[in-house]
Amino acid sequence: MPLKVAGPGAAAPSQSGMDGIDYELGADYWSKVDPTIDGMLGGFAQISPLDIEGSSSPSTGRALDCGAGIGRVTKYLLQRHFQTVDMVEQDAKFLDHSRAYLGPTSKVDQRFCSGLQSFTPQSAHYDVIWSQWVLGHLADSDLVAFFQRCARGLKANGVLIVKENTTSSDTVEQDPQDGSVTRPDALLKSLFAQADLVLIKDLQQLKFPAELYPVKMYALRPKTASDSPDEAKLKAVGMLPD
Ligand SMILES: C[S@@+](CC[C@H](N)C(=O)[O-])C[C@H]1O[C@@H](n2cnc3c(N)ncnc32)[C@H](O)[C@@H]1O
Repeated sequence: MPLKVAGPGAAAPSQSGMDGIDYELGADYWSKVDPTIDGMLGGFAQISPLDIEGSSSPSTGRALDCGAGIGRVTKYLLQRHFQTVDMVEQDAKFLDHSRAYLGPTSKVDQRFCSGLQSFTPQSAHYDVIWSQWVLGHLADSDLVAFFQRCARGLKANGVLIVKENTTSSDTVEQDPQDGSVTRPDALLKSLFAQADLVLIKDLQQLKFPAELYPVKMYALRPKTASDSPDEAKLKAVGMLPD
């Protein structure tokens, strides 16, 4: 689930196996979820404007929305700031629905129906690769490999944005309902480092209901990148003030 109430009883600590990840359960869970904002946000549709709130700086180029669902982030954030947006989402129903949801004037070019664990972005193709409320569905090793493929998918000064729930307990917490996990900030940062990503900036989402997991946003670039992301790009995705 995307927005989850934190604390005991909400989720059990991860046991073992694929880091507590169950890919089949995840796919099955999402196949039963309505293609609506409320569905995307686990019943917390009211936080969507706050989640999107940020900058209005114009930008150009191409973005990729990972675990895009019906295209909520694409609609309210990415297509406002990028000329072209591609989406990758494993549930075909959400991708189909995104056509009506985004409308005929949308800037979406490609819609890839794939799990992120087996998706490879086109090489040196994207200014921004955005992953939100989906990476808890990937096992640690698959996540590191996915980050490495994303790094290769970025243009020279591209940026990878991760926006995810984090635990306050410093442990991984498992969701038996959808087979996903919520990771602590320290583990996410260790996985970024394992993928040779450099953290440019991290921010905590403000003003969300207190009972929810803390939501953190990370801007990353590949260690090997010769150029840093320009300020306009970081402003466009809300990582720098206007
Ligand atoms: C909580 S929704 C978030 C959707 C969107 N990112 C947003 O913020 O509105 C999670 C999405 O991730 C998708 N998803 C779950 N596991 C996935 C995987 N392994 N690969 C790609 N997408 C996945 C679900 O189908 C669902 O659309």
